[in-house]
Amino acid sequence: MSEMTFETPNGAANNGVANKSLFFRRWLRNPLQMGSIIPSSPALCRKIAAAVERSPDEYVLELGAGTGVISRALLAAGVPADKLIVVEIVPEMAEFLRESLPGVNVICGDAFALRQALPAQMQGRIGTAICGIPLVLLPFERQQAFRDAVEEVAPGKGFLLYTYCATSPLPYGKLEMSGRRMAFTLANFPPASVWRYQPAARP
Ligand SMILES: C[S@@+](CC[C@H](N)C(=O)[O-])C[C@H]1O[C@@H](n2cnc3c(N)ncnc32)[C@H](O)[C@@H]1O
Repeated sequence: MSEMTFETPNGAANNGVANKSLFFRRWLRNPLQMGSIIPSSPALCRKIAAAVERSPDEYVLELGAGTGVISRALLAAGVPADKLIVVEIVPEMAEFLRESLPGVNVICGDAFALRQALPAQMQGRIGTAICGIPLVLLPFERQQAFRDAVEEVAPGKGFLLYTYCATSPLPYGKLEMSGRRMAFTLANFPPASVWRYQPAARP
């Protein structure tokens, strides 16, 4: 049976009913872990993909992939499936990603424990890390822990973070990072920005 597609408030016709109903069910179970009631819009996903930097042998690491809307935008933007690593903590969602993203490295694990979660040969070979976890809702110590987890597997790279906040969702000075808004779109519910955070150069 072919899968039905339909329009959501985010304009997505991007993987049918299963995608949105799984996302919504998970939001009902754990709103803080999900951070959003619906997946990111195609416009936001494209803006995130456009901010990705990688050399041909480097990986893109997506943390908190949900139902894979950004993963699909990354593939559409030319990231080879075998150079995309997606990490998702909810087993049911990781299984959905495995089934719907053939060839992609899907890891069911914790983005705060990346050294344990990622195969050794992928560590230190990441061009861009993308964070889908709602870091703004977490206490400063957890934000620091996330920064350190990314630094362990992608030294010096920092990460992209998308957010509904009007200003930076992270206190980047306090985190000893630089922060820059890379993109903004009204075509998302709610409107969203993409920020790049990088470890501050030490004197
Ligand atoms: C706001 S949703 C983003 C989903 C998708 N990337 C999108 O843009 O629609 C956040 C996702 O992060 C996942 N997540 C939350 N905490 C996590 C963690 N510690 N490690 C890995 N994934 C996590 C949630 O299960 C959820 O799928």
